[in-house]
Amino acid sequence: MITKNMTIADVVKAYPNAIEILKDFHVDYCCGGNDKLEDAVRELGLDPKSFIDLLNKKLKEKAEQGQDEPVLKVEQLMAMEVNELIDYIIVTHHKKERNLIQETDELMNKVLLAHYERHTKQLVSLHALFSDLRKELLEHFAKEEKLIFSYMKNDLSQEYEYEYVKELENEHEAAGNIIKEIEACTNHFTLPANVCNSYQLLFQKMQELIEDIYIHIFTENSILFPKYEGGIKE
Ligand SMILES: [Fe+2]
Ligand SMILES: [Fe+2]
Repeated sequence: MITKNMTIADVVKAYPNAIEILKDFHVDYCCGGNDKLEDAVRELGLDPKSFIDLLNKKLKEKAEQGQDEPVLKVEQLMAMEVNELIDYIIVTHHKKERNLIQETDELMNKVLLAHYERHTKQLVSLHALFSDLRKELLEHFAKEEKLIFSYMKNDLSQEYEYEYVKELENEHEAAGNIIKEIEACTNHFTLPANVCNSYQLLFQKMQELIEDIYIHIFTENSILFPKYEGGIKE
């Protein structure tokens, strides 16, 4: 049962299927994971009690209909050792997102050129935002893989562990802020009327990328980092 005092990360860890519902209401479960559900919902202009009742009702319905196969295998991830979890993140998220960034980048350029005159405002803003996101992510993945994850794996960074985690969390927040601007610029990926297949595919790929980033950041911020920090301090 979800209650108002839970943080958003507590909700997702206990009920991974809540992700779908949180997403529909634009509740930020990745960078905002440490916020209390009640506060986050109130900030979005929703009534916390009604929202939490709805969340519990929808999760119960999903369970009754047998649709409760978790979208994120939280229990499995929580049980992994730090090294195993880092490898999982690289193989599952970094690899997938690098491919999606490349596909989106090609589509972005194609659509920018084909629809520049008709959709200048949206496409110019989206192009700038996507370029920023692309840069942030590719540098961030390189920093994780080549530097900080190696330190974490080999436990070489004891005196700096907090700074490293903080640095990555700040970069997640920066990426999260760009994503919020992309969602605003596309009105949460609502297509303009009468657009071509490439425009549709661009929105679809970008949305797929963003959904993966949300789960990726949640996994690092709320599962990997607490595990790592806990391990060092003990
Ligand atoms: Fe990562
Ligand atoms: Fe990261």
